[in-house]
Amino acid sequence: MASDSQQANAAVQLYEARSGEYDGTWHVDFTERFAAQLNIKPGQRVLDLACGTGLLTFREADAVGSKGKVVGVDVTPGMLAQAKAKKQRDGPNYDHVEFFQGDILNLRAIDGLKENSFDVISVASALVLFPDPAAAIKHWTQYLKEGGIIAVDSTHPRNLVSGIVIERIGRKLGISVPYHRDWSQSEDSLKRVLEAAGLQVEKVTTIDNQAGYGRRYYDFDDADDQFVSHVIVGISRDKFRDPEIRKKAHTLFLEEWNNLAVNGKVEEVDAVFLGVARKTKLTSPTASAQSNGAKAQAPTNTEVIFTGGCRCGNIKYSSTSPPSQITHCHCRACQQVSGSSYLPFFEIPTTALTYHSSSTLQTLKLSDAAIRTFCSSCGTPISMVYLHGGWDKRTSLTVGSVDVGTFKGEFPGTKQHIFLREKAPWTVLPEDGAPRYETASEAQAGYIEKYSKTV
Ligand SMILES: C[S@@+](CC[C@H](N)C(=O)[O-])C[C@H]1O[C@@H](n2cnc3c(N)ncnc32)[C@H](O)[C@@H]1O
Ligand SMILES: [Zn+2]
Ligand SMILES: [Zn+2]
Repeated sequence: MASDSQQANAAVQLYEARSGEYDGTWHVDFTERFAAQLNIKPGQRVLDLACGTGLLTFREADAVGSKGKVVGVDVTPGMLAQAKAKKQRDGPNYDHVEFFQGDILNLRAIDGLKENSFDVISVASALVLFPDPAAAIKHWTQYLKEGGIIAVDSTHPRNLVSGIVIERIGRKLGISVPYHRDWSQSEDSLKRVLEAAGLQVEKVTTIDNQAGYGRRYYDFDDADDQFVSHVIVGISRDKFRDPEIRKKAHTLFLEEWNNLAVNGKVEEVDAVFLGVARKTKLTSPTASAQSNGAKAQAPTNTEVIFTGGCRCGNIKYSSTSPPSQITHCHCRACQQVSGSSYLPFFEIPTTALTYHSSSTLQTLKLSDAAIRTFCSSCGTPISMVYLHGGWDKRTSLTVGSVDVGTFKGEFPGTKQHIFLREKAPWTVLPEDGAPRYETASEAQAGYIEKYSKTV
């Protein structure tokens, strides 16, 4: 099918060339883990969008059995040809599987697909290929029965770091790239996109080790190799062929790479977020009325709740999660590193935090309990992460580093005062009614005692 959509054409270009090797990649394993989240029952009707070579489609077909039905849709002829060949090979076992070629952003063009007729819709490893994820999901949801579920995944912000870098460069140079990952910062971002599409979110989980490498670190010097393999010979090479553009892209690549580095290392995290959401009675009529060719409202890149950074401007971060209430820490270390009476912090999930610029971010370990960061150029304290007791998935940010003017929603109040045994003699505590602790709340005190004298 010749598509008039730029996105679909770009996808065909990207995947046609890969279709022959696709089944030799980590997608085989990932689709198995994806299918395990769906809880498909015999007899159900399943729609697998962007089905590719059918890796997930056939797993779903096994789960629904011959009394069920599975429909796969993809736009890339080579991918679909692989899927159809498998169906042919396995003959009558897969009579209940059907494949259509088409653009999944325009499902109405596919005869034989009926709205409100599927129990489950799956979209594996494809959501980030679409520029407006909430609008896309809203469109797909029309094909779900009331009470049906849709499952989608989106990338961890550090998944394939060079891809993120190319996306940012593309934006700066006005060059389109075939993926749109910048909105996908955390489990919470995916949750919000599903909610923006009018769905009730059942669960969002993080799947680690998607491609099997876990975490890896690049040196700053790897930037040139990455530039060569991803821009000069990678999928974007045609767009960056012009020597002038390539030169600009190279400079920007080094700049972005440097921004992502912490202590000279760029971290890559092999993880994705997977969300399952339900079409409910309440949401379904609005969902179909609004999705009638209309775009979803400004979805996800406006979802930053606040930004912050250091005094000199070298460190800039944003958070896609609202923070907890404020903890005022009166410990001696907080007095010293802030040069003040005490240090106010609030917490967010670490996955909600993105550093947009961090070349001067230094870590500081004053005890075994926690790691702090600060700006090595201007001295601003930025964050603290407790290393034990399950707190390591949350980052405490110094409230003084927040750009208060950017804050969306109600600014948090005081949760507690901690480490009052070390309180500066000149500090007069406000009558804020908040709990006061000699060290910390019972929940935290035990482990803080165990790992440190000061935190
Ligand atoms: C990474 S593959 C995922 C394939 C399969 N879901 C899996 O997990 O193995 C992405 C797929 O999205 C398809 N795709 C991208 N944009 C599309 C569109 N607008 N309509 C239909 N398929 C599309 C591509 O053709 C490709 O097969
Ligand atoms: Zn600074
Ligand atoms: Zn402290």
